[in-house]
Amino acid sequence: MLLDTKAEIVGRESWGDYFLLTIRSPSIAEKAVPGQFIMIRTASGPYPLLRRPFSIHDRKKDTIDIYFQIAGEGTALLAAKKQGDECDIIGPLGNGFLLDTLAEGRTVAAVGGGRGIAPLFFLGNELQKLGFPLTVYYGGLTSGDLPLEKKFRDKGIPVHCSTDDGSTGFHGLVTDLFLSFLPSSRPDHLFVCGPDPMMKALSRICLEERISAQFSLESIMGCGFGACWGCVHKIKTQGEAEWTKICQEGPVFFTEDIIWNND
Ligand SMILES: Cc1cc2nc3c(=O)[nH]c(=O)nc-3n(C[C@H](O)[C@H](O)[C@H](O)COP(=O)(O)OP(=O)(O)OC[C@H]3O[C@@H](n4cnc5c(N)ncnc54)[C@H](O)[C@@H]3O)c2cc1C
Ligand code: FES
Repeated sequence: MLLDTKAEIVGRESWGDYFLLTIRSPSIAEKAVPGQFIMIRTASGPYPLLRRPFSIHDRKKDTIDIYFQIAGEGTALLAAKKQGDECDIIGPLGNGFLLDTLAEGRTVAAVGGGRGIAPLFFLGNELQKLGFPLTVYYGGLTSGDLPLEKKFRDKGIPVHCSTDDGSTGFHGLVTDLFLSFLPSSRPDHLFVCGPDPMMKALSRICLEERISAQFSLESIMGCGFGACWGCVHKIKTQGEAEWTKICQEGPVFFTEDIIWNND
């Protein structure tokens, strides 16, 4: 684990309630793999005391990017930070997506819902370098939830979009968009990140269709490195359901090992 107590914010972009911050941290940038995350202290005062988790969205030689949506007080404080401000971060944390299981010639796709698109840009870039072109299915409630569509296209990563209200792309859920492409472009392997109901539905599809898949789970996190047990989720380990720390053993798990709430 690396500790960068004072990392400078060197870039900031925004689209409605979505934000992208570029943070100078050569040590985290060097070590990070797609699917890993950092914990950030969002306040300069005492509240919120606990750091908040964010996926690593991109990395350059000396910097990492995070992409986030305002969800509460911590993310609102983070959104108010400016270029030149400093923040307290820990990372890279978690396991990340497992890429060395991909066999040559396999086709790969990813589904991202809303802010869940965050880790898929770093993933797409790394997969491109490894020779696995990624196709992305990107869903939101409305067109304002899809500000990164052009960024993916500009990188040469094909994106199919959906919105629940039909304001752009396919009119409907991203799971239905993915299903509509299944007969013509069935992936051998799928990567998923987004809200729980979307991930649960996709997990069922992957199991039924026998598509191997990795899911990046979310949980409220107290520490991010295994000390508080605040992030546990039931995961099958050698066939047995066990309460598992998402921050340490995850956040990425294979679909067959995840036990969803109410299952
Ligand atoms: C591994 C990991 C990676 C993440 N990556 C990103 C990312 O790249 N971009 C992004 O926008 N968000 C990401 N999140 C979610 C983000 O951490 C939460 O939105 C954030 O912590 C909310 O903090 P807050 O103080 O603004 O909200 P709070 O005031 O703490 O909470 C606001 C609301 O959000 C809910 N909430 C808080 N934390 C979470 C959480 N972790 N999961 C689900 N619901 C939550 C609370 O129950 C509450 O209803 C990630 C979460 C995890 C676990
Ligand atoms: S967040 Fe503390 S153990 Fe996972």
